[in-house]
Amino acid sequence: MKQSKETMVAPTETTIRPTLHHVTFKTTRLHEMIDWYSKVVGVDVNFRFPGGAFTSNDRANHRIAFLAAPGLNDDAEKVGHAGLHHTAFEYESFDDLMSSYARLKGLGIEPDVCFNHGVTTSLYYADPDGNLVELQVDDFADWDRSSEWMRAARQFAADPIGVFFDADLVLAAHEDGVPFDQTREHSYAGKYPPKSTPNLHLPQ
Ligand SMILES: [Fe+2]
Repeated sequence: MKQSKETMVAPTETTIRPTLHHVTFKTTRLHEMIDWYSKVVGVDVNFRFPGGAFTSNDRANHRIAFLAAPGLNDDAEKVGHAGLHHTAFEYESFDDLMSSYARLKGLGIEPDVCFNHGVTTSLYYADPDGNLVELQVDDFADWDRSSEWMRAARQFAADPIGVFFDADLVLAAHEDGVPFDQTREHSYAGKYPPKSTPNLHLPQ
């Protein structure tokens, strides 16, 4: 049926920018995945059915969804295959990030790699399916400033990946009262080197 002129949507040259809303994983471990995301980022299940679940850790009806369709198989070559590398969650403060690190460590959940990217301080955890989840805080506590630094800083251009750090050493410094400004400067300078080889979940 032809729409009347009044109700037709006018074409626009402008790209209206929608907000990123959710991620959906295919999984063979529905229960374990819900449990893990609940522990790590605090999702609650808004709806669950035999074929999946919709979970969220804020007001959105779902942020992390799971599809557990019959016929799915684990990908033993996931690390070497193209596709999603990680999803990321941001804390409002460095203290929130580090207290979450300590809480998760108490549950036996530890990161595979920790980076100071220059723009963020980031801990990467592998979920039960081997998808990485980055827990991060902005190094500038200001998206405008960190974005500008990313665009303009020679230091970032010279090394857009960043510097590994040991989360226990950073936690100890934080607990000793070292301010975040100083901790992030030190971790970016490589003063908290990791004890073991970080697992980047990328081909060697
Ligand atoms: Fe990231």
